[in-house]
Amino acid sequence: MPADNTQVPQHIAIIMDGNGRWAKQRHQPRFMGHRAGVKAVENIVKHCAECGVSVLSLFAFSSENWKRPTKEVSLLMELFALSLKQQAKRLHKNNIRLHIIGDISKFSASLQKQIVQAEELTENNTGLTINIAANYGGHWDITQSVKKLAEKVKVGELSPSDITEESIAEGLATATLPEPDLFIRTGGEQRVSNFMLWQLAYTEFYFTDTLWPDFTSEKLDSAISSFFQRERRFGKTSEQIKDDSNA
Ligand code: IPE
Ligand code: IPE
Ligand code: MG
Repeated sequence: MPADNTQVPQHIAIIMDGNGRWAKQRHQPRFMGHRAGVKAVENIVKHCAECGVSVLSLFAFSSENWKRPTKEVSLLMELFALSLKQQAKRLHKNNIRLHIIGDISKFSASLQKQIVQAEELTENNTGLTINIAANYGGHWDITQSVKKLAEKVKVGELSPSDITEESIAEGLATATLPEPDLFIRTGGEQRVSNFMLWQLAYTEFYFTDTLWPDFTSEKLDSAISSFFQRERRFGKTSEQIKDDSNA
């Protein structure tokens, strides 16, 4: 449990980075790192579900990851399919909802079918939502939202002057989810790598050198503790925030 035992961020978003380096340290092929990464996902999902986190977003495959060697890409696809097959029923049994964001049309027909089936199976669950970003990019997300608005303008349903921040947000792949409170990136890099660019506007960032396969529930608790030491001001002054919380 997190340090104070009661509070958790509502939405945690994680860039699970460092699988390749974890394998390299062990003189193993990169794929072994990805396999160990899946184990870490299982632990973190379990912990988030137990702690009462509402949404856990996990960056699994970016729109740029197609640039990797073909062999690594196909092994990652196989691993994704295998994990869905092994986990969908277990997630459902644990009242966990699975939600996928990203352009899944680029995946094989069978993987797309598995994704849709797992989403449908779990859609009415009321516990943790796991939001998997697969073939996802922040640029893609904003672009596809804006395209939908452009279509409405084209047919005369919407005037350009009526386009608002809200209407762009409503077209994003995450429209039904709250914005992330805490963003974690493992593996030591301090960059966003085209993750949820729009949604991270006011998220608290936490970077750790721990490689993803070594990221334990205790390490997640440390990130959560750090989150609760921050003062989220959303543009206001510290005094205003203190007044608001005393009101
Ligand atoms: C993250 O680990 C997993 C994916 C991008 C699929 P990496 O594979 O990027 O691991 P490093 O960064 O090479 O160590
Ligand atoms: C980000 O990690 C994407 C995922 C974890 C799925 P990368 O390893 O692809 O990011 P870069 O290339 O180092 O920015
Ligand atoms: Mg990486």
